[in-house]
Amino acid sequence: MAFADVAEVASIEALSTASPWSEDSFRIELRNAAARCRVALCDGRIAGFLVAWRVLDETQVAELGVHPDFRRRGLGRLLVSEAMEEARSRGSSAARLEVREGNAAARRLYESMGFVSVGRRPKYYEGREDAILMDKKI
Ligand SMILES: CC(C)(COP(=O)(O)OP(=O)(O)OC[C@H]1O[C@@H](n2cnc3c(N)ncnc32)[C@H](O)[C@@H]1OP(=O)(O)O)[C@@H](O)C(=O)NCCC(=O)NCCS
Repeated sequence: MAFADVAEVASIEALSTASPWSEDSFRIELRNAAARCRVALCDGRIAGFLVAWRVLDETQVAELGVHPDFRRRGLGRLLVSEAMEEARSRGSSAARLEVREGNAAARRLYESMGFVSVGRRPKYYEGREDAILMDKKI
C-alpha cells in the first residue's frame, strides 16, 4: 500500500465495516515501522487490503477488507496467506486477530486458514457486539 492508495483503500473500508478507519488512520499505519500494509490489485483497481502489526514475535491482523465487487474470488484468502508468509519469514511464531461474532464470512475465512477461537471480548464493538479472539501458529 502506498500513500496514493489511501483514498481508495478507505472507500473499501467504508463499505466493509460499521466502524471504518479514516484515511488518516491508514496514513498513520503507512508511517508505522511495526505495520505492514498491503493491497490486492485486480484489473488495475485496488480490490482489497490488509494491515498487520508485528508485536514482538507475534503478528496481529489489524484490518482486512475486499471490495464487494471482488468478494468470493479468493482475494481475502490471498491477502491473509501472504501476510502469514511474510510474518513467518520475519520471525513471527503466531498470528492473532479479533473478529465480530456475527461476521460469518470472515470467521469462516480465518477458520479455513487454521485460526482457532481462543477467547472473547464482550460488547467490544460499539458496546454491543462481542469480539472473538482467534490465533494461529505460523
Ligand atoms: C471477509 C472478507 C475479507 C472475505 O474476502 P473474500 O475475498 O470475499 O474471501 P475469499 O474469496 O478469499 O473467501 C475465502 C473463504 O472465506 C469464506 N467466505 C468468504 N466469504 C464468505 C461468505 N460471504 N459467506 C461464507 N463464507 C465466506 C469461505 O470459506 C471462502 O472459501 P470458498 O469461497 O472456497 O467457500 C470480505 O467478505 C470482506 O471484506 N468483508 C468485510 C470486511 C471484513 O469482514 N473484514 C474482516 C474483519 S475481521
